Amino acid sequence: MNQLADSYIQLLKKSLLNELYIENELRILHTFHCMLNKLPLDYSHFFNITKVQPYLLELVQESKLNGTMVVLGQHMPDGKNRPALELRNVTELSHTMVGRKRLDNLQYCMETVLKDQIEGDFIETGIWRGGSCIFMRGFLLAHGVQNRIVWAADSFQGVPPPTWPEDAGIDISRKNLPILVVPLPEVQGLFSRYGLLDEQVRFLPGWFKDTLKTAPIEKLAILRLDGDLYESTMDALNPLYDKVQPGGFIIVDDYEAVQPCKKAIHDFRASRGIHDEIITIDQYGVFWRKS
Ligand SMILES: C[S@@+](CC[C@H](N)C(=O)[O-])C[C@H]1O[C@@H](n2cnc3c(N)ncnc32)[C@H](O)[C@@H]1O
Repeated sequence: MNQLADSYIQLLKKSLLNELYIENELRILHTFHCMLNKLPLDYSHFFNITKVQPYLLELVQESKLNGTMVVLGQHMPDGKNRPALELRNVTELSHTMVGRKRLDNLQYCMETVLKDQIEGDFIETGIWRGGSCIFMRGFLLAHGVQNRIVWAADSFQGVPPPTWPEDAGIDISRKNLPILVVPLPEVQGLFSRYGLLDEQVRFLPGWFKDTLKTAPIEKLAILRLDGDLYESTMDALNPLYDKVQPGGFIIVDDYEAVQPCKKAIHDFRASRGIHDEIITIDQYGVFWRKS
């Protein structure tokens, strides 16, 4: 790859992770920190935010590396610190929540399928604001690849409420996590901002159980699963796994983050006799290469 293409890919990652304007993210988090803890919001702090909040800066940098959440704390009268989890709905500011290590992994998988000439499109099931799919489309552009599609599958109304026994107790649907609801026009608008909304991106709006069986996908080189639940993982694997070509990749974003997702992977692999090695990406994500 030439230097210009590589610079573009690196810049795209920084932009998707909101690393370029990290001070503004800190300013917003600092504002919430002051509101939560009834502290004066000192105007002068905004000029020196990285000096005023060095610990928060480290936390945010860490979250962008590992795709983890930054949780602000509220000091309670009993001296304890209450994690203000509900603030996640207003403090997720990047265009992808997967973090740099998982974007690097996605880049590695894409580079490998190009190098080894593994045929097929790329898909993510569970795209949220679309950041990982934007990255895939930008990668194809940088490499001048015109014969692969990026498929973007999502309900665009968040995660379904749990109905399968394996997902019991995990309700991350819109009533609890409205941040996961990103309507299709908003996602398309983000692709457009990056100059990457074109015929090489196809959206599959709806629940996976309804959309993926009949999606006009022929071959896949990369199947990236990011639907959190057992149901969502199974509803993607069942119709799509056989479309992944030998030498293609299956990436599981939530393997160590959501136990039902891990169980779905183990149940599916056991039912199909799959023994390809599961490789760790970071503290949550894993992948394997189809033999
Ligand atoms: C954690 S987010 C995905 C994050 C994204 N991959 C990124 O790069 O930031 C999970 C997404 O999966 C979608 N989702 C989960 N289960 C689904 C299902 N069964 N059908 C359709 N969409 C689903 C949600 O709407 C949400 O956008």
